[in-house]
Amino acid sequence: MRRELAMLTRDFRQYVQALEGPGRDEGRRPETAESRPPAVPLKSLDELCEEAQSCVRCGLCKTRRNVVFGEGNPNADIMFIGEAPGRDEDLQGRPFVGRAGQLLTKIIEAIGLTREEVFIGNVLKCRPPGNRDPEPEESAACMPYLEKQIALIQPKIICALGRISGQLLLASRGRSLASMRGNVYDWGPDGKVKLIVTYHPAACLRNLQYKRPVWEDMKRLRDEYRAMGGAI
Ligand code: URA
Repeated sequence: MRRELAMLTRDFRQYVQALEGPGRDEGRRPETAESRPPAVPLKSLDELCEEAQSCVRCGLCKTRRNVVFGEGNPNADIMFIGEAPGRDEDLQGRPFVGRAGQLLTKIIEAIGLTREEVFIGNVLKCRPPGNRDPEPEESAACMPYLEKQIALIQPKIICALGRISGQLLLASRGRSLASMRGNVYDWGPDGKVKLIVTYHPAACLRNLQYKRPVWEDMKRLRDEYRAMGGAI
């Protein structure tokens, strides 16, 4: 338990260091040699994935078959972040490979991209039994992995898929999906990452009326990316 706590503290410190970087000192207390945390370099994405494979930070490690770290371009400009692996993903160790995943692939292709060009991941790396909503302690335990993934990949745009992912990325528990979508948020410590929240592809499969708003959100994402010079 003490070791787990030490790892979490170290992870958080590394994450904050990676995000702060040079030139973000305005308004911050000046550091002295004593107060400066030791410079611990961030792991590579592969090393982080390796670490996640043996994660026991929450009880989901007891029921998972595979850790689903995420996949795609390690330098992707665009990240899609879902909630948690489902049954197919747990069996294969890959994100969004079931029916919802097939729809996500089509959505990505509809804006002129491929799965290989973007990065696809989840807030939780392990499947909650029966696909139940993540418990707060599970998302808290897993969030440092996602934060480090974002710090390493440095996407320009993040698309949160579904209510849980939107709530966790916007740190606003209890907010409805409808109230989160339709905006482009300036996200991250310097507000330079654009965040778009849209319906989860699984919700689109259950409710066909969500397909139109998702398409509107994807056009918004495409327009944002084009405005940044992205060629899609
Ligand atoms: N739903 C998710 O949120 N993520 C997956 O990887 C699959 C289904």
